[in-house]
Amino acid sequence: MTGRFITLEGGEGTGKSTQIKRLAAALQAKGIKVLATREPGGSPGAEQIRKLMVEGEPGRWDAITETLLAYAARADHVARTIGPALMAGTWVISDRFNDSTFAYQGVGRGVPRETIRRIDAAVLDDFAPDLTLVLDLDVKLGLERAMARHKTQAGAENRFEKFGADFHEKLRQAFLDIARRSPDRCRVIDASGTEEQVAEAILTAVGRRFDL
Ligand code: TMP
Repeated sequence: MTGRFITLEGGEGTGKSTQIKRLAAALQAKGIKVLATREPGGSPGAEQIRKLMVEGEPGRWDAITETLLAYAARADHVARTIGPALMAGTWVISDRFNDSTFAYQGVGRGVPRETIRRIDAAVLDDFAPDLTLVLDLDVKLGLERAMARHKTQAGAENRFEKFGADFHEKLRQAFLDIARRSPDRCRVIDASGTEEQVAEAILTAVGRRFDL
């Protein structure tokens, strides 16, 4: 029996990593084996590519190079981490996956959707998440949260925050649009509530999707 693949998506500071920890713990408490991972990253090689993507100045890469970096990291992540875990029956929860490329590099940086779709098909074939939770939050609030976090940890990982508020407003709409296009796969979660409220909404969505 293969595991299930769940992704969390959304803009900066929407609380994905906190919620992934809570969801992983809740599933483990039901006796499910869980692997929490992230993109860009999630395998040794992909973590190296992550540094190239998330550190440095906004203009460091043109948009198509950035897209290819995201998919190079993703190919390694799927081959070495996600695929083997699913085959072993482990449930995988990933902090971001391919929807982030359609939002950030596609809508945000202007790579045509069809270009990304073709790269996606070449790299992933028809591999896709079983469930995607889109955490939706006011952009200003999210950026404030993300910046406060960077003051205390991971200070260098702020390249995309420097793209400005308009860029991030476009991203919010892009994620909502992705959820509208794929209603069977995606659930939009209101991330403006307390940590407990958001965790509860996520658990409800996961429970319904997988009959837990
Ligand atoms: P994080 O801050 O959620 O850990 O994500 C790292 C950054 O990488 C975030 O600003 C979004 C960006 N990113 C892309 O631009 N394209 C992608 O395909 C992925 C997975 C992330």
